[in-house]
Amino acid sequence: MPMKTQKPKWVDTTIADHISSIPPYVPGKPVEELERELGITGAVKLASNENPLGPSPKALNALRGNLSRLHVYPEDGGPLLRRQIAERWGVSPDHIILGNGSDEVIRLIAHLVIKPGDNAIVADHTFSMYRIVVRSYGGQIQSIPMTSYGFDLNATARAINDKTRIVFLCNPNNPTGAIIGTEDLKRFLSDLPSKGPVVVLDEAYRDYVTDESCALGVDLLDRGVPLLIGRTFSKMFGLAGLRVGYGIAEPWLIELMNRLRIPFTVSSAALWAAAAALDDDEHVRKSLENNRLGLEYLGTALKDMGIQVAPSEANFLMFRLEQDAGPLYEALLRQGVIVRHLASFGLPNCIRVTVGLPEENERFISSLRKTLEASGALSYRSD
Ligand SMILES: Cc1ncc(COP(=O)(O)O)c(C=O)c1O
Repeated sequence: MPMKTQKPKWVDTTIADHISSIPPYVPGKPVEELERELGITGAVKLASNENPLGPSPKALNALRGNLSRLHVYPEDGGPLLRRQIAERWGVSPDHIILGNGSDEVIRLIAHLVIKPGDNAIVADHTFSMYRIVVRSYGGQIQSIPMTSYGFDLNATARAINDKTRIVFLCNPNNPTGAIIGTEDLKRFLSDLPSKGPVVVLDEAYRDYVTDESCALGVDLLDRGVPLLIGRTFSKMFGLAGLRVGYGIAEPWLIELMNRLRIPFTVSSAALWAAAAALDDDEHVRKSLENNRLGLEYLGTALKDMGIQVAPSEANFLMFRLEQDAGPLYEALLRQGVIVRHLASFGLPNCIRVTVGLPEENERFISSLRKTLEASGALSYRSD
């Protein structure tokens, strides 16, 4: 095995401070890692908002049927999948850009518009990649407090200045589950100058929403302000491991983003699977039903234990303790249950749990109950 060396001195002088000071992204702990650490099997991961039903069966069939074509490059830019997505939303394929996960779309927009000294507006408790990508291009973050774990659009509008290049909104928000209403978003967009900033509306979890007052980005593309909608195949469509997402925006913005895109970043396998998953209505229906029942079960069980739960329109629930939730997170890990401690989202007292299969949800609730009873940490009600 090669020797491990110290970080060489040139690193400190060569790597820009705005890059070396970026806190690394904290992912959910993988099941395999926990099982290795504890020497156990059968751990449950409810930490990364994946689809507990697995990939769309149609996607799996498409993959199997195409494997012999893996020796050729994918068609660059994914024109067939772009056309299929465009038809679904009633826009042209020129409105769509595919990415290696919607993470890539988020990175591309930051790369395009952020220069050192610019800023982007990011809510206090939201998806951490927004901060990371902005900082990696030398931009600064204007952090906006949230109201009842939701976006404060008035405060966001007030914070925009002549250096603001992006406003990040996440609907529903990860990790709080809050939504932005159509009328609120329309009002916010209509007060923005037409030259920007670019509004990034991240709809990674929008497929799960049942509240009809929730804004839908594609209906707001014509508001005269640059709007980029982020969408993903990682959640409802169950393809997180393949890495494919997309952006929807006016063609001029998509064309500029395309100049920065690395060729072939979406693999052939991802293109085949995404195309099949998009038309798998049965898988979507089952996923929605599982989510509806799981949210109901988890919400009720948590509230019965006297725990504060934030209302969620996504495939996860956030709950809050009176004290640091780190020890509870660790105790659940020891029982083979992986959830997400939200310290890295600026919410050290909170935990986010992804809706799993019914038996996974039950396992989480019984491990939680056991832990809290043992520690006497909260006003536990057994009635
Ligand atoms: C709000 C939000 N946006 C984007 C992503 C990135 O998703 P992907 O890159 O898998 O499409 C995630 C992943 O968890 C997310 O929570």
